Amino acid sequence: MPTLTWPTKSLPDPASAMLADEAIVYPESTPENRLILGDNLPVMAALLPVYEGRLDLIYADPPFFTNKHYPARIGRGEDSRHPADWDLAEGYADHWPGMDSYLDFLYPRLVLMHRLLAPRGTLYLHLDWHADAPARLLLDELFGPARFLNEIIWAYHGPSPIRSAFNRKHDTILVCTKSDDYIFNADAIREPYNPSTVKTFASSKKAGFGKVPDLARGKIPEDWWYFPVVARLHNERTGYPTQKPEAMLERILLASSSPGGLVADFFCGSGTFPLVATRHGRRFLACDATWRAVHTTRLRLLEQPLPFLFQRDLNSSIPSSPSSFLLSTSHRTVTLNGSTALDYWEADPAWDGKLFRSAAQARRPNRSGELPLEIKLPMEPEHLRVRAVTVSGKQIEIG
Ligand SMILES: C[S@@+](CC[C@H](N)C(=O)[O-])C[C@H]1O[C@@H](n2cnc3c(N)ncnc32)[C@H](O)[C@@H]1O
Repeated sequence: MPTLTWPTKSLPDPASAMLADEAIVYPESTPENRLILGDNLPVMAALLPVYEGRLDLIYADPPFFTNKHYPARIGRGEDSRHPADWDLAEGYADHWPGMDSYLDFLYPRLVLMHRLLAPRGTLYLHLDWHADAPARLLLDELFGPARFLNEIIWAYHGPSPIRSAFNRKHDTILVCTKSDDYIFNADAIREPYNPSTVKTFASSKKAGFGKVPDLARGKIPEDWWYFPVVARLHNERTGYPTQKPEAMLERILLASSSPGGLVADFFCGSGTFPLVATRHGRRFLACDATWRAVHTTRLRLLEQPLPFLFQRDLNSSIPSSPSSFLLSTSHRTVTLNGSTALDYWEADPAWDGKLFRSAAQARRPNRSGELPLEIKLPMEPEHLRVRAVTVSGKQIEIG
């Protein structure tokens, strides 16, 4: 079997992250879901003692080796049809001195993902033409070529400045399983047959060489998928760069995990994968090295009133700024007064000085509309603490 080598290839034991609990969101019960701010290499190393061999599905959408910078779009009740009015903020960088350093980044992370997968688990590694060829060889080395399940082509449309080649409008998702006994829920992802196929079978008994498919049940999709990219007018758009379509990640989740299963995304970006996981009753681990990504993910996760633990590697910091806000409370209603534009705020009515228990939250709507400046608490406050995040991503503590 050919293996990939490069001068700096090595596998030193990664140092483990020191994970600190930042907050429990919806603290009524013990959260099984975790959202972690930090570099995923030490974070995964820290998770190994508890999660080794336990994850049913990992979706990995790392930087693609494009050597570009991806800013995030932020706004204040912005009209998404007027992107010129949007402000830009730090997103994430995909810059590398060369392919060797990119492989030095990817390889040890794939090793840990392989270790974290359960015996029936599956990894979906989402890349494009920049690095899918070397990555395929790394996967063959770690999983074995016989465990390569699919090469999925995600095709989409969009403008392109290229005039000297065909427009590059597809990504490649490499799929590997930990063993040959893996989860694949064919019936969860069937789709209707093409109307022309239905017509052919209706008109000729000989079509399909005498084998008539179950037309009513639908078919398992091919390994090439069309989903539109998340564009400005889509409701799911967050402004975080390279956000993936919910429908596509839903297909991956439904195919390769079951309700109650444990799934992970260690490059979670805007949080598309943990969001669809909560919608479909899976437990999740999610991580990103960028505060804007983790903040965006938290905002999206509020869609489902499911508790989750928000943690931070102590080597990663949350940008903060002093508060200029005033709080007032009356009959379990907290009102916030201040002039800085906010994305989000949350309240802990019984702050113990250690772990923030976020019992009530308010977020700025994705597309247009104002952030609510009043929230109702589930109890009379004993020692009220409020945390807020400004539109530019600074965390503020009040109370
Ligand atoms: C392609 S984006 C993921 C987009 C995501 N799938 C979505 O739907 O929004 C890649 C993400 O990897 C994150 N990332 C890059 N290096 C990382 C690292 N060492 N640890 C954790 N996250 C990292 C970036 O911050 C970025 O958010």
